[in-house]
Amino acid sequence: MSQPLCLENLPRTVELERDGDGRPRLAYIDQRRLPGELAFERTGDWRVVVDAVKSLAVRGAPALGIAGAAAVALWAGNVGAARATSRGCAGEGPCFLEELGPVADEVAAARPTAVNLAWGVRRAVARARRAVASGAPSALVADELFDEVKHMEAEDEAVNRAIGAHGAELLAPGSRILTHCNAGSLGTAFYGTALGIVYAAAAQGKVERVYADETRPVGQGARLTAWELSRANVPCTLICDDMAASLMAAGRVDAVLVGADRIAANGDAANKIGTYGVAVLARHHGIPFYMAAPTSTIDPTLPDGSGIPIEERDPAEVLPQPLPGVEVWNPAFDVTPAALITRIVTERGVFEPGKLVY
Ligand code: MRU
Repeated sequence: MSQPLCLENLPRTVELERDGDGRPRLAYIDQRRLPGELAFERTGDWRVVVDAVKSLAVRGAPALGIAGAAAVALWAGNVGAARATSRGCAGEGPCFLEELGPVADEVAAARPTAVNLAWGVRRAVARARRAVASGAPSALVADELFDEVKHMEAEDEAVNRAIGAHGAELLAPGSRILTHCNAGSLGTAFYGTALGIVYAAAAQGKVERVYADETRPVGQGARLTAWELSRANVPCTLICDDMAASLMAAGRVDAVLVGADRIAANGDAANKIGTYGVAVLARHHGIPFYMAAPTSTIDPTLPDGSGIPIEERDPAEVLPQPLPGVEVWNPAFDVTPAALITRIVTERGVFEPGKLVY
């Protein structure tokens, strides 16, 4: 690498903080404006967070988990506590939980595929229930939720660094890595999953270059991964999605590293649309295909990938100007069968897809 790895240049993606009056607010990077502008938004309104999730201002499975829990904490701190008190319920806690229910449901439903979003919301609601059960008044429940989110942010970085350390062992010195979408710091609180492995391996001098698929139609690779790697000083070559086959055929890829949005019990895994095709290409060319994700991305309720809900997004992402008689199909994710995944890397280690420990 010509310049040393520089993770200090990577900003934190989502961070719960307190405003001047002590009210909770979420600071987040508006990723729609990258790479042109690094813009931070700050909001105390849980509905703004829901919109940020839907519009991809905040995206990436682990970041969605934190944003989901943060939205619940914002409701609790800025709406719920005040309302439960003003309703003058004898049991303030049950009132609070009653109103929290539909809010939590709405947040969890903002995007369907990444299981981390519902996981984050569930974790916040469970913390609220425990606090209420212990007799805490609503204001204190809100404080506990704030603490829970801060804990999740720190945990996410620690988990990603563990994924990075495990995954780096899979790579040989001089590795040329192909990645798809953005499974980097921008998709997490900090550091990233698939790119976390890149950063850990780069720190050991093992990374020659990362090839970033542009990732049509939203361009997470072109806009986000290329931006992130450039800031971190990791050599990066951006390619169009349809160039990956030629790159592999030319012998220029040693490993594929991608993230995941939901992993079924048998190891079938959903990730950004196009991942499945990259896995097929990797198998054809005899290149290892690694998937990296925290255990919070594993959905043990699904025996295989056929039950993973696949989000379909606005046709305008594919065809900005509608054409008469032309329909658009725009699934945001696809499912890579476990048989095409060489190994799955989590914070617990490196696993064969069907033998995940969680
Ligand atoms: O639609 P997006 O941008 O939220 O999709 C993101 C991905 O598919 C990522 O690869 C995945 O969430 C892992 S992020 C560390």
